[in-house]
Amino acid sequence: MIRTEQAEVVYPNGTRALAATSLTFAPGAFTVLLGPSGAGKSTLLRSLNGLVRLTAGKVVAEEADDLREPHALRRHRRRTGMVFQQHQLIGRATVLANVLTGRLGYHSGLRTLLPFSATEKRRALDAVARVGLIEYALRRCDQLSGGQQQRVGIARALVQEPALILADEPVASLDPATAERVLSLLHGICKADGIAAVVSLHQLEFARRFADRIVGLAKGAVVFDGSPSKLGRAETLRIYGAEPADNDEDSEEPLQLKTGTHA
Ligand SMILES: Nc1ncnc2c1ncn2[C@@H]1O[C@H](COP(=O)(O)OP(=O)(O)O)[C@@H](O)[C@H]1O
Ligand SMILES: [Mg+2]
Repeated sequence: MIRTEQAEVVYPNGTRALAATSLTFAPGAFTVLLGPSGAGKSTLLRSLNGLVRLTAGKVVAEEADDLREPHALRRHRRRTGMVFQQHQLIGRATVLANVLTGRLGYHSGLRTLLPFSATEKRRALDAVARVGLIEYALRRCDQLSGGQQQRVGIARALVQEPALILADEPVASLDPATAERVLSLLHGICKADGIAAVVSLHQLEFARRFADRIVGLAKGAVVFDGSPSKLGRAETLRIYGAEPADNDEDSEEPLQLKTGTHA
């Protein structure tokens, strides 16, 4: 459904953030990217949406759409929802208005100056309801809690009718209980709608719990690719380059890694 072919990213300053990487992301699969800070998770995610320019290789969507083609990229972006750590909402605008911006990819040129259609507004309200925020639809986003704001980010992605959702550390700034609820919501929606998701996380236990597949990155290279059941101590060590401080693999607590954890 979307795949990278020998995709490589070297930033202008010479940082090789992604070594030649070939990965295929199947429709409907929930993939979690793991790796210490600087491993290349964001770079890989952003390359799947053309936000990062490849220095070699390519990304292909829907079997044939080479994202180096502007039309293919536009088509692909329209159907790809992004969820960010810092949700990137317009604080002064209402929940509904923020969610509606997810429809902008369906309009071009002057059409973006016209009001949204009734159908689009209904679609946006449906998305707001689905993330449990219907009573907040007309509330300003900056009056919501962090977890609620992240739900708005999910609704904004949903209103795009996405085939793919890319989420870059979507729960990194939330407390553990809220993080779990938000991730569970995202996972449930993707499964119900058959949306493929590629989600970077730094909580190993969430990865184990929600992922169909885990891709582990270290220094820009894929060092693990498999089901959560295959991710043992040795594989974790390969990804993080350090022994988790908490060796109890069944622990409910987030693992404290000696290196590479996010602040
Ligand atoms: N715009 C950029 N310019 C130069 N180097 C960058 C840029 N973005 C990220 N990097 C570097 O590329 C590497 C991978 O970064 P990133 O993809 O953000 O990793 P992660 O999301 O896993 O923390 C790091 O060494 C980072 O410092
Ligand atoms: Mg990152």
